[in-house]
Amino acid sequence: MNIRISSCLGVAGLALVVAGASAHAQTRPGLESAGVYAGGTLGMAQQPARGAAQSGSVFRVGQWPTYTAELAPGKGRDMVLAHCMMCHSVTYITMQPPLSAATWGAEVHKMMNTMGAPINEADAQEIVAYLQAHYTPETRKP
Ligand code: HEC
Repeated sequence: MNIRISSCLGVAGLALVVAGASAHAQTRPGLESAGVYAGGTLGMAQQPARGAAQSGSVFRVGQWPTYTAELAPGKGRDMVLAHCMMCHSVTYITMQPPLSAATWGAEVHKMMNTMGAPINEADAQEIVAYLQAHYTPETRKP
């Protein structure tokens, strides 16, 4: 007899859990709220009120920063300046963390093959050699 009662309660309890789960999915307490918009404001983004004008404000205008890094002196530098500044400044080179020799090789070929840099293979080799001589973890000077 006892066993029967508890198994009945078990079925009833399961039914309650299922009902509770579906009620939870419908209302999502804490995530949604329900209500009625006042007519006319539906979908409107409200802008904050304008700040009151103040006297004595100060502003400063400076020059647009046009800093371009100096590349390390050495053989191949002119080749880099001639080919690599077509699309972007050579700061793109100096702002990288020191890259391995292989990565510089891949980077220059990425510029040629993916970005469309018109550089022939002989010039590319000189550029890669320059980058490897100055911008790897072993060769980069602070
Ligand atoms: C045809 C145009 C072009 C030329 C020439 C060019 N690049 Fe780039 N380069 C790009 C573009 C486009 C990006 C990506 C820019 C961005 O993501 O903001 C880039 C990005 C880079 C980056 C950042 C890392 C990366 O892979 O995005 C490095 C380093 C770089 N170039 C080095 C070089 C070097 C060295 C040369 C000369 C061999 C060169 N670039 C020549 C177009 C060019």
